[in-house]
Amino acid sequence: MKTIVANWKMNVGVRESVALARGTLLALRGKPHLPDVVVCPSFTSLGEVRKVIARSYVSLGAQDVSSQDQGAMTGEISARMLFEAGVTHVIIGHSERRNLLHETDELIAQKVVQAFTHKLVPFICVGESKKDRETTHHTEVVRAQLRVALSLTDRKQLGRFFIAYEPVWAIGTGVNAGVQDILEMHQFIRHEIVEYLGDRTPAFGVLYGGSVTGENAYDYLREKEVEGLLVGGASVKLTHMTEILKAAQSVLERQSS
Ligand code: 13P
Repeated sequence: MKTIVANWKMNVGVRESVALARGTLLALRGKPHLPDVVVCPSFTSLGEVRKVIARSYVSLGAQDVSSQDQGAMTGEISARMLFEAGVTHVIIGHSERRNLLHETDELIAQKVVQAFTHKLVPFICVGESKKDRETTHHTEVVRAQLRVALSLTDRKQLGRFFIAYEPVWAIGTGVNAGVQDILEMHQFIRHEIVEYLGDRTPAFGVLYGGSVTGENAYDYLREKEVEGLLVGGASVKLTHMTEILKAAQSVLERQSS
């Protein structure tokens, strides 16, 4: 299976989110080989987008969640609230939140606990900076991010999850990572997770994100190790998103024949 996640970030309001959700459904209509698709609108658009995708193959994701269960946390949105709003998936630890909003690995670990506690499937984002890659510290950095992110979760609480490998230098830059680099990192991530969680490891997938387009999506998705894509900029342009979905359908069709 392949999973395509649309991270609309803080780019579109309610009306555009509804249009994007409708367009995404249209792009999938009548197709025999469908990827799993998760759309992640802003919090304010969740309710309207939920109505559009009700009883479809498309799932609803949030872009963030509070690290706390409840309480005096002005402006925060808890995992319980997301669940109540029909959300099934949540992006955690995106590099924009790590870098611009100073989220730490520890805070991210608390958010992961919240997601599992309230039965949300987390997309846990990891990825190295340009400097980490240039100094060949990228695997070390990703290993540390993975371990801390899962460090507070009781092994018994673990549910299905995704790791999204998003190298910081590839996000929103038009400089997408090469297939070989991604394959090496995805294999590394898979190995690290299994080694860390041992025989308690639940089903999990590894996604790639960073300047994914309609042109490069197929080359990524045809690789077994790339279980899906986390798409930013291209996901708010319906023609680009449709191309990415087409690429996923072609790969799935080819695999089934
Ligand atoms: P871009 O696809 O715009 O590079 O963004 C990737 C991303 O941050 C997805 O979460």
